[in-house]
Amino acid sequence: MGDFVKSFHHHYFDSEVWLDTYWFGHRVLKCPLDLFNYQEILFQVKPDVIVECGTNQGGSALFLANMCDLLGKGKVITVDIQEMERPEHGRISYLLGDTTSTEIVNKIKESILPSDVVLVILDSDHTEPHVLQEMRLYYGLVSVGSYLIVEDTIIGGNPIAPHLAPGPMGAVQQFLTENDQFIVDESRHKFHLTFNPNGYLLKVK
Ligand SMILES: C[S@@+](CC[C@H](N)C(=O)[O-])C[C@H]1O[C@@H](n2cnc3c(N)ncnc32)[C@H](O)[C@@H]1O
Repeated sequence: MGDFVKSFHHHYFDSEVWLDTYWFGHRVLKCPLDLFNYQEILFQVKPDVIVECGTNQGGSALFLANMCDLLGKGKVITVDIQEMERPEHGRISYLLGDTTSTEIVNKIKESILPSDVVLVILDSDHTEPHVLQEMRLYYGLVSVGSYLIVEDTIIGGNPIAPHLAPGPMGAVQQFLTENDQFIVDESRHKFHLTFNPNGYLLKVK
């Protein structure tokens, strides 16, 4: 990452505009350039099931469901440990619980058919041990040609918030040493600003 791009990451993150970003009136804690990456990925993959770990206020789940509307297929299963008011949409199922609990993982597995194309997004607790545990629990659900997206690899000093290390980036690095089914899709860095550097993992086998 060049110095200019790095300083823009700092500028964007420090402005906290990501706390003031909405999809159809619902707060979404994402950079719009990443949402555009999501749109391109969803068009390419056309998933039957999108699993989202970390719902928060549901803006990202609604965005995903609306993309499914445009594609004419797909459902969103989204998990959060906290209850809050969230948008209703026929394609969204909200699950309450810990993403790493056996109960939640089993509920998600029961909602997926063997023939389903599945995409997984990890956006819950951003500490390295938790993300690594989620990666190990959820990677098997991802279809070949689809993605395991690890959100917020930017934190922990990449280049934002070094005090939050070890974060999701450490989990990605460790996971890739133990699993050769995924590669980092570097083409997803094309918009220069991303909250997920090295976080768009393409399943290749
Ligand atoms: C970064 S926010 C999710 C943002 C949302 N995906 C969006 O883009 O707007 C993280 C969420 O993860 C939830 N969370 C934290 N630890 C969790 C856990 N162990 N299991 C499930 N959810 C968790 C928090 O309650 C919080 O709402």
